[in-house]
Amino acid sequence: MKYRAVKGVQDILPPDIFLWQNVEDVAKKIFSVYGYIEIRTPIIESTEVFIRSIGEITDIVEKEMYTFEDKGGRSITLRPEGTASVVRAYVQNHLYNLYSPQKFFYIGPMFRYERPQKGRYRQFHQIGVEAFGEESPKIDAEIIEMLMRFLKKLSLKDLNLQINSIGCKKCRPVYRDRLIEFLSNHINELCNDCQRRYKLNPLRVIDCKIQSCKEITKEAPVITEFLCKECEAHFKELLKNLKRIGISYNINSRMVRGLDYYNRTTFEVTSKMLGGQDAVAAGGRYDGLVEEFGGPHTPAIGFAIGMERLITLLKNTTTIDFNKPIVFFATVGKEAEDLAFSIVSEIRKNGFWVEIDYSNKSLKSQFRKANKMGAKYVFIIGEEEIKKAIIKYKRMNDGIQGEIKKEELINFLKLSI
Ligand code: HAM
Repeated sequence: MKYRAVKGVQDILPPDIFLWQNVEDVAKKIFSVYGYIEIRTPIIESTEVFIRSIGEITDIVEKEMYTFEDKGGRSITLRPEGTASVVRAYVQNHLYNLYSPQKFFYIGPMFRYERPQKGRYRQFHQIGVEAFGEESPKIDAEIIEMLMRFLKKLSLKDLNLQINSIGCKKCRPVYRDRLIEFLSNHINELCNDCQRRYKLNPLRVIDCKIQSCKEITKEAPVITEFLCKECEAHFKELLKNLKRIGISYNINSRMVRGLDYYNRTTFEVTSKMLGGQDAVAAGGRYDGLVEEFGGPHTPAIGFAIGMERLITLLKNTTTIDFNKPIVFFATVGKEAEDLAFSIVSEIRKNGFWVEIDYSNKSLKSQFRKANKMGAKYVFIIGEEEIKKAIIKYKRMNDGIQGEIKKEELINFLKLSI
């Protein structure tokens, strides 16, 4: 084989593509009820957009970005996630001058140079949403409800919604100091990355996926014990509102998320069926990011769903029911093929999916192909049919055969399908 797709990326082929399309349709339907409108941002951004938002001392920025210099000498990065780009677009286009909250969704590929494994790819896809301009914890509850409703609509079961609050600029530094103090007693047991990072960004140690670090941080102080009054009240209100609308959750006070822009609410939806990479969706609040990008103070919240992981879950629970041609046209002889060619054009104009074979192969072989494609009807034209101005048909699921006049064909399809 001469060429293969590069490491860590995948082709999305039939029949899986039908699952992808269905997921996207369901998302669009549900999100629209909550007022989310599609936004399309470029796949490339100035590298600075991601450094300033995701944070310098994070796995994504330190190790995983596809960064290159363009021909004009600018540092460009393939987006590793969607939030930073949407915030950049929100600020650049002064969308804060419109009514609040502004609510957006996006669907598209993201790029992270990670070690490929099950559920982790270098090009992967997210469906994400971002809401700008609302501080009330009711919108946190609303957005979480929307996510859970979407996952439920896809009939996914046994999902675990984990919630936490990671405080704000006021209360997190106190926690941070306590965490550094705790970690300094375990410094030699931490992985190399965490030894280097623990003073600069100790929350990343809590988020470390290395088993030895996980063992140590089991005993570490937790952020929820350090929340300021406002953050605590916000968190309590969120939980109360989730209860109000019947969303069950688990508080996980050790969940800090791997990106630096978050404050207050963070959440993840996990599934045991996914193995090591178990988060199917994740998100949180990022009240300071719009300001960081030069806009006015704008509270914001969002989440992103990992499409590949979602599709893996769906493939475990659903059979893919994809569309099949309604008619397959089998012909015998050049004259019949020419006639069928015009009829096919007419049928398609009426919105029916028709296939026709131009290979001049035997009728038997054309029927075999129709069967493979799952066509509902095979229409047949040969010399005799031309003479009589009729078309023979066979209904493939029960073998029923008959003939119809050419001019009755569209009506026949309208009544039978
Ligand atoms: P994230 O946790 O980095 O958050 O990614 C969200 C989801 O994307 C993950 O839960 C996972 O399902 C999927 N994902 C991430 N990396 C990979 C990968 N290498 N291969 C396959 N799937 C992956 C964010 O990206 C935030 N922007 C979410 C957000 C939006 N927060 C606020 N608004």
